[in-house]
Amino acid sequence: MSVLLTGGAGYIGSHTCIEILNAGMDVVVVDNYANSSPIAMKRVEEIVGHEVKHYAVDCCDEAALRKVFEENKIDSVVHFAGYKAVGESVRKPLMYYKNNLDSTFTLLSLMKEFGVTDFIFSSSATVYGLSEAVPYKEDLPTGCINPYGWTKFMNEQILRDYAFANPEMSVVLLRYFNPIGAHESGLIGDDPEGIPNNLMPYVCQVASGKLEKLHVFGNDYPTPDGTGVRDYLHVVDLAQGHVAAIKYAKDHKGTEAINLGTGIGYSVLDLVHAFEEANDLTLPYVIDPRRPGDGATSYADSTKAKELLGWTAKKTLVDMCRDAWNWQKKNPRGYEE
Ligand code: NAD
Ligand code: UD1
Repeated sequence: MSVLLTGGAGYIGSHTCIEILNAGMDVVVVDNYANSSPIAMKRVEEIVGHEVKHYAVDCCDEAALRKVFEENKIDSVVHFAGYKAVGESVRKPLMYYKNNLDSTFTLLSLMKEFGVTDFIFSSSATVYGLSEAVPYKEDLPTGCINPYGWTKFMNEQILRDYAFANPEMSVVLLRYFNPIGAHESGLIGDDPEGIPNNLMPYVCQVASGKLEKLHVFGNDYPTPDGTGVRDYLHVVDLAQGHVAAIKYAKDHKGTEAINLGTGIGYSVLDLVHAFEEANDLTLPYVIDPRRPGDGATSYADSTKAKELLGWTAKKTLVDMCRDAWNWQKKNPRGYEE
């Protein structure tokens, strides 16, 4: 059983690579390193103790990707490759639509050519938009508020339509909530470019002294302490969710959208305090105005993942904070050597 991981050198892809190998399957990684480093693949190899087949290929380049299908017997595809920065997607929408949709078209056409039928897609809780109907259940109406989100929404629709027209296909749309943390070795983790947009990498850089203080975006939300509530899940739990989805796809046809979250919402200040407790340090912070586009509360109804995939998240918020800080301490400049 061999799994093609597009974007496999990225944050979630690299962790998933390890969990798939741990589960006894083979992997082939394709990444153009647009938002990652080849060093991540070296670290993955260090963790698993052997070489991992990987190609520096753009998933929109059909000829180059065809070679990967020719050289490897692929049984299923996990499609992580894509751009993911919300703010950048507002400034450069075409770049986002092009990369995030073209890569799917190219993959589907090659999968057809080579008789590969199982497709696991990296979707996002962003498809629930700013719905207030928490916890989010998969059958809620979807709709987005930025181009990045629309690329997820459109990919979901394209994949549903394609699977409907091609009944041999098995498509799993995994809607991730907020992955944080890192592999417990501290060898791989989240390595954002420049000043982080997301909460956990920002917190890590404040803890390390690289950034002065955390700016908490709003404390006037209708939440228990007024700060935004999210469903943070450990990236290793998320990675294991992919293993379960790959196994599920092998035995089921058609399309399923499945949330991957813990089902628990924590506020920004909950996370700050958990980080302080887990790592025995103090995080300076100030309260700033709300960030445009942010909702108050987002967390998963995770029943479907348990029922269909037999998957539940196991790690705690403290585990996530400890592992994120371990990665940051060991790699103050990320993968830069
Ligand atoms: P990431 O940027 O670390 O990983 C994406 C990888 O895809 C990178 O290594 C990048 O170089 C590669 N890539 C981009 N375009 C490519 C192309 N055309 N060809 C080949 N490689 C390409 O991001 P991540 O956090 O690991 O996210 C993985 C997927 O999960 C993305 O699709 C993202 O939108 C989705 N997602 C992420 C989050 C999150 O919080 N991190 C939440 C929901 C969904
Ligand atoms: C953001 C994206 C979302 C994407 C997700 C995962 C936006 C508007 N949304 O979600 O589309 O799917 O990342 O990549 O960018 N916060 C602070 N200070 C900070 C950073 C964040 O207070 O410096 C707060 C936010 O207001 C939010 C929470 O922390 O309440 C989590 O923020 P973040 O990590 O950026 O994730 P999301 O906003 O959920």
